[in-house]
Amino acid sequence: PNTRHFEFDVVWKKVTRLCHTKPLLTVNGEYPGPTIAVHEGDNVEVRVTNRIAKNTTIHWHGVRQLRTGWADGPAYITQCPIRGGQFYTYKFSVIDQRGTLLWHAHSGWQRASVYGVFIIYPRMPYPFSAPIKAEIPIIFGGPNSSDAYTINGLPGPLYPCSNKDTFIQTVERGKTYMLRIINAALNDELFFAIANHTLTVVEVDALYTKPFTTTAIMVAPGQTTTALITANQIPGSSGMFLMAATPYVTAIFPFNNSTTIGFLQYKEIRNEEFEPSALPRSLKLANLPAMKDTAFAEKFSKRLRSLASPEYPCKVPKKIDKRVITTISLNLQDCPKNKACKGYADKRFFASMNNQSFVRPLKSILECYYKNLTTDEYSLNFPEKPPNGFDFTGVDPLAENMNAEFGTRIFVVPYGTSIEIVLQGTSFLNVENHPIHVHGHNFFIVGSGIGNFNAAKHPAKYNLVDPPERNTVAVPAGGWAAIRLKANNPGVWFIHCHLEEHTSWGLATAFIVKNGHGKSQSLPPPPKDFPSSHKFFPWQSI
Ligand code: C2O
Repeated sequence: PNTRHFEFDVVWKKVTRLCHTKPLLTVNGEYPGPTIAVHEGDNVEVRVTNRIAKNTTIHWHGVRQLRTGWADGPAYITQCPIRGGQFYTYKFSVIDQRGTLLWHAHSGWQRASVYGVFIIYPRMPYPFSAPIKAEIPIIFGGPNSSDAYTINGLPGPLYPCSNKDTFIQTVERGKTYMLRIINAALNDELFFAIANHTLTVVEVDALYTKPFTTTAIMVAPGQTTTALITANQIPGSSGMFLMAATPYVTAIFPFNNSTTIGFLQYKEIRNEEFEPSALPRSLKLANLPAMKDTAFAEKFSKRLRSLASPEYPCKVPKKIDKRVITTISLNLQDCPKNKACKGYADKRFFASMNNQSFVRPLKSILECYYKNLTTDEYSLNFPEKPPNGFDFTGVDPLAENMNAEFGTRIFVVPYGTSIEIVLQGTSFLNVENHPIHVHGHNFFIVGSGIGNFNAAKHPAKYNLVDPPERNTVAVPAGGWAAIRLKANNPGVWFIHCHLEEHTSWGLATAFIVKNGHGKSQSLPPPPKDFPSSHKFFPWQSI
């Protein structure tokens, strides 16, 4: 196999957006960062050099990292951060996966601006027939880094001083294009649509789907969607068609409801005069669902199915060895005395799974586990059922889930265990989906619904034929999702909400997959330049 080398320098870069110039954390001064494009089967080596006065790490979101857990990236889960002035070379292979993924910083909130596209070209031809004229990455950023949602780093003309910062993609009439759509926003699930055109979804999270055609897609932070679009419309005099992304939330407060727009420009009609700012500000895109369109959201997720073809069979575990049922909650607690709380009156937010609010440790869990170090940084007692008294049947979630414990509790499974994890939303605020991401594994979404999971009723209705396979599931607001995976990757794997705010509040846990038999089922030792806990004391802020 080929080995592809990349150099990532984490540096500050002055960027002007929306009339302001400010320093943005970047890789190689680029925003979004450099694209990694490799071929299925390649070895990948990325040397990340930290040139800032803060810690950093990079995560290759959705890359399986089979037996290369040392290269996964989440700070203090698999590695200690790379300190200022130091470097670490992430080495891994992209085996048996293909499609669109992303990479991003995994230390503090750095992924607000430190992110980029990760493409794996398939070994076999695409399992769909249309000849593709070009592949176009579309990566969304959130308002945290540039004060507006962005398409490929560009906010579009609905904001002040941003006419020039508008994404315009030229297309040829009659040709089909592949859009590699990625949501790298910190905190917002998005709808995306292009005026007058439909999108044919063919892959999500680097896993092929049964193709289906839709007027809009929805994509949660950490998720990707590859869709085909044919430029088959008769353009008006401008030659332009609007594209737009807007957040999906079921309540306005306290969210930013702004929209980012860009354009498809038909090559045949070149209108040099076109001025994006001439568009009416109240611009409507008929294809774009309204911000609270839960019906669309539900319908869209239900249409996703694994391709389940002879070449790409669906390997959903039909039987499970273990079921973990966990609540995913936003909670409130009294504001500690002498502290200003940015919460709800005199309360502050935190978040939990089974009433355990995850506290990030100060040493790498993977390293402690691998080297058998005695440590109180974490414990192996994550509760595998919701706390006593929680029965999913109309208990007041506000009262039941406000008393979480703070700690670093994780669970352990033997190599090869087929696990089902039921994720049950119980927030007192049900305004958005929770995109739950599992590191080191893909999983199958065998069931989901609004309301409470019912162990007597729901499993009988699971889809065990062609459930969608992903690395991040948007658990419906006020509902549940059941996922199944085979734990065949020895290491320590983070599970967390991909809304960064919720992770920072504690909506996370992790699990250890033990070694199996022999080398092929075991994690090799860490690489020589691994940022170890021993050399490290976390005096730098993250
Ligand atoms: Cu994309 Cu743990 O993250």
